[in-house]
This record gives sequence, C-alpha cells and structure tokens, in this order.
Amino acid sequence: MDLVKEINRLKKEKNAVILAHYYQVGEIQDIADYVGDSLGLSQKAAETDADMIVFAGVHFMAETAKILSPSKTVVLPDLNAGCSLADSCPPEAFEKFTKAHPDHVVITYVNCSAEIKALSDIVCTSSNALKIVESIPKETPIIFAPDKNLGRYIINETGRDMLLWDGSCIVHEAFSMEKLIQLHKKYPDYKIIAHPESETHILDTATYIGSTSGMINYVKAHQDQKFIVATEAGILHKMQQEMPNTELVPAPAKEDNTCACSECHFMKMNTMQKLYDCMLNESPQIEVDPAIIERALLPIERMLELSK
Ligand code: 13P
Ligand code: SF4
Repeated sequence: MDLVKEINRLKKEKNAVILAHYYQVGEIQDIADYVGDSLGLSQKAAETDADMIVFAGVHFMAETAKILSPSKTVVLPDLNAGCSLADSCPPEAFEKFTKAHPDHVVITYVNCSAEIKALSDIVCTSSNALKIVESIPKETPIIFAPDKNLGRYIINETGRDMLLWDGSCIVHEAFSMEKLIQLHKKYPDYKIIAHPESETHILDTATYIGSTSGMINYVKAHQDQKFIVATEAGILHKMQQEMPNTELVPAPAKEDNTCACSECHFMKMNTMQKLYDCMLNESPQIEVDPAIIERALLPIERMLELSK
C-alpha cells in the first residue's frame, strides 16, 4: 500500500488536519499539514476548522488539542506515546503540594496531564515560559511544575524564587557532558544550542537556549555557522531540510542510552502505518472528562492570550 497516497486520501475524505511535532520521524513531518513546537501546535489545534485532528506527537499534546477543541475528534497514532516528564507529576501528589502552598500561583509546563493543567493557574511552553513567569507580579510566590530543569533555567534568567516540582525529561537528561566536551574538541568552531529541558551544566555550554521552534529559527538566522544540537534528534530533519548547507551534529547521549544521540522513544512510537490506521479507524481517540476540560481550559487560554 502507498501510505503517503492513502493518508492524503483520508485527510480529504475525513476533513482531517495532521499536526506533527519536530521529534516525529521524518516521513510523518513531511506528510503533516503543520509541524511545530508545543505552542505552535496548540495554537493550530485551537484555530483549525477540520473535523478531525490527527496528532502526531505525544499524549499530553493531543490532550491539549482536545481541551481546546472538545467537539472535534482527536486521534493519536499510538496511545502509549506518553512522556516521562508528564509521568513525573501524578495529580494526587501535586494537588497535595499545591494545597500546602495556597498563596502560590501555579504555573505548569504544558508537558503534563490534563488533571495537572486543571490544578494550574496558567500553563506555559518552552517558548513562552520566561514571558509567562514575568507576567506574574514580583511579590507573588510561584510553584513551577513539572520540569525542574526548565524551572532552574527560568530562575537563573529571571531571578524569581520559584518552588520547583522534581520532574524531568529522560531524553534531555541523557546528554553526556564528557562526550559533549570531546565532540566540541573535535569540532571547536561548532556552536552549542540547547533545549531548556536540558540540565544546567549542558545549558551553561550553550550559545542559544530555546524551544524547538526557537532553535530552528536561531539556526536559520545564523546559517553560515555550524551547530551541535542538544535536543531530541528528530529536530535535525527539519533543520537540515530548511538549511541544507548548514553543518549540524546532534549532541551525544550517555553510554547506557539506547541511541548514540538522544531520541524520545515515546515520540518514535508513532509510525506511518499507525498514522494511517488511526485515521481510517478514527481510533485511538483522546477523551478527556468534561469537568477536567472545564478547569484545564482557562490556564491554557491564559497562556495563548499572553502569547499573541
Ligand atoms: P517544544 O515545545 O520546545 O517543542 O518542546 C516539546 C518537548 O516535548 C520537548 O521535549
Ligand atoms: Fe516528554 Fe522528553 Fe519525550 Fe519531550 S522529549 S515528549 S519531554 S519524554
């Protein structure tokens, strides 16, 4: 079967839109209507007039799309495509934590479940986290969850004293400092760019820190330079496509990692076959409890409003 042809046929037949994250395999990025970072993807999900949103990403992203467009059918090629960061913040424990600090404004990184969003005052993504934190009055104490690495980065950048949840991303904590130093010795004229989910010692080596879209835009603006890219390796597909003459090397992962560079096995669960199957069968669908949607929508809308 010609999967590209069949997926395009189903797209028309079902009035579907395919939204893909930069960490998806190259062929999924190539067939998508839109490829972007978490913020861009949620903006697209909020404004689409398609009947079906096919989310080529991970569960929390598809869930965010469902919260923003509850009347639409939202399908995810593989329901097991989760996120270690989202898993590191269970709702019961988080609710207890927020209740212990009732005077704190709760800012949550979008990489969390709908239940956690429902317990939040405002959501953020890696591309607007600094802006969202700075929108809170200086004297107001803040809880930031679930990513402690992004949280530490924001504290360093803004000087805000935030209470951090102890969560992290297995992919962005897999970079090896030792190997990165060796790689940089081999390529001394390469600049390091990094995603803020990476640990502080990695971020300290970076010329630029930003979201996946931010990193792509930075490379676009400096095409004559060479880069070591410290985020999930799937981003190199789009970077190389848009900047074919720019030299790029993925940052190396630790010895015990399954891949020499950092790959998110959750993102890579989605395949072209599963993409086709979920469109054909309109399953697996993302369902979110209407009571949770009601509470999770406002903190996401607040973020979208501040990101215009
Ligand atoms: P971005 O919003 O920067 O694309 O990040 C998503 C993500 O999951 C990073 O690990
Ligand atoms: Fe989650 Fe990390 Fe994968 Fe992003 S790269 S989806 S934060 S596990």
